[in-house]
Amino acid sequence: MARRKLIYEGKAKILYEGPEPGTYVQYFKDDATAGNGAKKDVIEGKGVLNNRLSEFFMLGLANIGIPTHFIRRLNMREQLIRQVEIIPLEVIVRNFAAGSMAKRLGMEEGAALPRPIVEFSYKDDKLGDPLVPEEYIIAFGWASQQDMDDIVSMALRVNDFMSGVMYGVGIKLIDFKIEIGRVWDNEFPRLVVADEISPDCCRLWDVETGQKLDKDVFRQDLGNLADAYTEVARRLGVLPSNVTHRPKPTLIN
Ligand code: TMP
Repeated sequence: MARRKLIYEGKAKILYEGPEPGTYVQYFKDDATAGNGAKKDVIEGKGVLNNRLSEFFMLGLANIGIPTHFIRRLNMREQLIRQVEIIPLEVIVRNFAAGSMAKRLGMEEGAALPRPIVEFSYKDDKLGDPLVPEEYIIAFGWASQQDMDDIVSMALRVNDFMSGVMYGVGIKLIDFKIEIGRVWDNEFPRLVVADEISPDCCRLWDVETGQKLDKDVFRQDLGNLADAYTEVARRLGVLPSNVTHRPKPTLIN
């Protein structure tokens, strides 16, 4: 088989040229990194889980009318996506204080916020993805004011969807990060949710015990990351093993 053209290799995913114009194949690696690459490991099975989970969330978003880059899953590690122009921002939504916000403001981890807060980091590994105000984003032309209004409302809709889905399986959505891309449909630009949605880019705590089921397990050496992600996938019913629990077909005479 001819080797596919590599478009971009990131820390957790690889993008290849897709089979049709305007598409890419997104490959999920098993690599885990934290602290902007300072801590690295290979977590067997993580790529497979994130491929399934991202498919699940992206399809869910499409079902409630939020456009995404996702077209279809191709196999265990790959999905077909639309080519998009990535807006160079990490769009972060927080429901409870944690991570960099808790540290910056001296807040207790898990403290409820008065309302969901949307914030933006400029995507640049060399700079460590610095937090940036909307004023910078518009002044530097990374996105327009209209884009930012659309991005905030999209991020809050994603938050409502994700919080509800997670709460339904006993998981609190503490915060998450999404990326937004621009696609062109007959000269008209449209914003879509891009990249991935997986426990790599969320904070997920068990509602009852507070147990962490996300990448903080790796960042903070709290246990086996693949076990945590498998638990999220199992609760959401997206593991292939679920298929085996379906009732067996009945013979019709
Ligand atoms: P933070 O508390 O470290 O700023 O992260 C907030 C959320 O965004 C958390 O769920 C992790 C996610 N995130 C990423 O997935 N990638 C990133 O580069 C950053 C800065 C945050």
